[in-house]
Amino acid sequence: VATAAMADRPPRQITPLPSPPSPADNPTTAEKVRLGRLLYFDNRLSADGATSCNTCHPAHTGYTARTAISMGGTGTSHWRNSSALYNVAYFEKFNWDGARRSIEDQNDGAWSGAVAGNVDADLAEERLAQVPEYRERFQQIFGDQYPTWPSALRAVAAFQRTLNSKDVPFDAFLRGDERAISAAAQRGYQLFLGKARCVRCHDGPLLSDDRYHALGVPVSPDFLNSPIKQITFRFEQASNGVPRALYESVRDDLGLYYVTKRPADLGKFRTPSLRELKHTPPYMHNGIFKTLAQVIDFYDQGGGEHPNKSPLLRELNLSTQDKTDLLEFLESLSGDPLTDRPPKLPDYGEYHRPGDDARD
Ligand code: HEC
Ligand code: HEC
Repeated sequence: VATAAMADRPPRQITPLPSPPSPADNPTTAEKVRLGRLLYFDNRLSADGATSCNTCHPAHTGYTARTAISMGGTGTSHWRNSSALYNVAYFEKFNWDGARRSIEDQNDGAWSGAVAGNVDADLAEERLAQVPEYRERFQQIFGDQYPTWPSALRAVAAFQRTLNSKDVPFDAFLRGDERAISAAAQRGYQLFLGKARCVRCHDGPLLSDDRYHALGVPVSPDFLNSPIKQITFRFEQASNGVPRALYESVRDDLGLYYVTKRPADLGKFRTPSLRELKHTPPYMHNGIFKTLAQVIDFYDQGGGEHPNKSPLLRELNLSTQDKTDLLEFLESLSGDPLTDRPPKLPDYGEYHRPGDDARD
């Protein structure tokens, strides 16, 4: 239960990112990461063979789509902005509502969920088993006689733990290079810590408290007026136990409520990281803001309207100069983009009957 004392925790220091965690139950190894990269791009891990992770988080644009609201698997739409995958290694909660507790668990939903990959684990395992190169790699890395779904999840998660920010200009500044960022960005940093109050929620090395807040982000007209997005939204609410009266009448994303079913959690979302924003527009859970200048204007007005709006938001009275400075600071948190192109994927081999081990 969130208490006032928790909300008042002093902000943690903003530092460069430490090296990424390598969980004991899924240590990161080069071989596993190489396999995970192939799986990330492989359409065969969706029901109709048409959708990969890269479809909704395209590697050539910062591992996130540039659309406000994500597409869905064939014939569906999603109802939220596709998250950027930069630095996911460092979070403890995943998705805009923080519903998932590990990358592996998030990815289970991404491959099998009705509005994304929609694939059945048994079907996916059978497809993997028919690719000789995958059989060999799963055998070597995980000791699987035939590729298993949990191993596929471990591999693709290990790959994502490598998608991290390299040193951004602000990190060099933190390490003592005064000239790594402009004077305006340095003033912006002071505003971020002080008058603009951003650090109350965007703190620590990620510039995220990994907690939930309601800001009153405006509803997206694209979301409200699209039958296909509304269909997905209502289907997902219904299948996750949101009471019928609510999911039939609600007009906007329920945020954390979707997970906890507590009215106090309506409209709350997990605070995103502020690293690499230059590469990941548009912004917010519904992609409503195209630019960082729009985001700053939104905070300057004290956020939007919502019954659960965080008491930490208030009108800021930023001057035009303050806004430019804050923007320059945010821009100093982005480095060179990470990009990748789809690799050549291993082909199916001659049909191999699992269990027919005399042939192996
Ligand atoms: C159909 C589009 C689609 C596909 C396919 C898809 N994603 Fe996503 N992904 C999204 C959307 C939209 C979100 C935000 C979901 C939410 O908040 O409920 C998301 C969220 C995530 C997150 C959470 C990031 C964070 O910071 O919380 C991760 C990690 C992720 N996806 C990885 C993957 C991987 C890996 C795959 C392939 C196994 C994949 N996604 C396939 C659309 C997709
Ligand atoms: C009360 C906590 C809180 C405060 C204070 C706060 N933020 Fe946020 N910030 C959030 C949350 C939560 C979101 C996601 C909201 C959503 O999508 O509905 C967010 C989203 C953002 C985003 C979009 C990131 C993305 O990937 O889409 C930016 C940029 C941002 N904040 C910058 C700032 C700046 C600059 C300030 C200070 C002027 C600030 N924030 C103050 C909690 C906060």
